[in-house]
Amino acid sequence: MSKTFKVAALAGDGIGPEVMREAIQVLRAVEKRFSLSFQITEAPVGWAGIDAAGKALPDATLALCKASDSILFGSVGLPDRDPTIPKEERPERAALLRIRKEFGLFANLRPVQLPKALAHACPLRPERQGDGIDILVVRELTGGMYFGQPKKTEEFFVEEPPAESGATVIMKRAQRAIDTMVYTTPEIERIAHVAFKAASLRRSKVTSIDKANVLENGVLWRDVVSRIGKQHPTVALEHMFVDNAAMQLMLKPTQFDVMLCENMFGDILSDEAAALAGSLGMLPSASLGVTNGEQTFGFFEPAGGTAPDIAGKDLANPIAQILSVALMLRYSFGLGEAANAIESAVGKAIAAGLRTGDIYTPAETTAKKVGTREMGCAIAAGI
Ligand code: IPM
Ligand code: MG
Repeated sequence: MSKTFKVAALAGDGIGPEVMREAIQVLRAVEKRFSLSFQITEAPVGWAGIDAAGKALPDATLALCKASDSILFGSVGLPDRDPTIPKEERPERAALLRIRKEFGLFANLRPVQLPKALAHACPLRPERQGDGIDILVVRELTGGMYFGQPKKTEEFFVEEPPAESGATVIMKRAQRAIDTMVYTTPEIERIAHVAFKAASLRRSKVTSIDKANVLENGVLWRDVVSRIGKQHPTVALEHMFVDNAAMQLMLKPTQFDVMLCENMFGDILSDEAAALAGSLGMLPSASLGVTNGEQTFGFFEPAGGTAPDIAGKDLANPIAQILSVALMLRYSFGLGEAANAIESAVGKAIAAGLRTGDIYTPAETTAKKVGTREMGCAIAAGI
């Protein structure tokens, strides 16, 4: 009997539970087809965790994650409820960012692909889509402005009106918010290696994104990435300022193979890139730590959010969650063939014309608008 892979399934809030249900259905289909064995344990996180156990990341959920081989995650946070508790306790910080840090998940991979059949869902004109868009965003995930210290909001006093006007000076209370952007050379080196290795398995080009014309961080980033690049001579390296990169994604997205970004730039550019792929509902994501033997502990989630407006209505696109399962099989468990089977089942469902609302347009007369469930079932059946 082969190894049993232990998967912690944390569906979270909003559309999380309904897309997770389809992803698990697909994982079970893969288990059967390839005679694998998965032990899938579900646990609450986010508002579901707060409601069940008083914390966005309940102790039992964290313990389950530690005892698992990887985490399949849905999404967390509900804009209506988030303001009712202190920001440190809100799901994004207390669960998602906490897990990233706790498990050292420094490498975030977001593959953006526009399938030919979905060309209509891309906001760019066909001539800008070339032979198709295929970009891998490699985002550093545990450094930069997200985690740098100090990070706080504090009170201070400002003089009002300015002293030189001759009027009586009034000291007025004000607030200032401080976030700190900090990167060390080892942090940049390890994510750069990830990007170059990934590029060597693709079209062998890395575009490294920075703001070296303004930020100290940008200068260091550029130096270190250039140095690491020399160790990967088969991969072409270019540097691009982040503002230009945002523009180039709109003008000529086909120029990109791997985009290497620090945490915050990667957050922003990956959403922009996802829009090119038709919908954020199509974008999976893998967050990886260091490799231990053959296995890499990983965290796999759709890049989109909880979409509370459509939650529970069978409207959400489950594809990002399902493709996250494929990434888990490939990157955490070394099951490339099973991962390919999921990706081709997704391709088949799309080629057959099945569309959730986010990728549907009435102009596409051969398309059929389906719900979350029907899309999930079709993909599971295609395994
Ligand atoms: C993402 C999300 C998160 C991030 C939020 C939910 C904290 O936008 O994974 O891209 O900013 O990293
Ligand atoms: Mg984001």
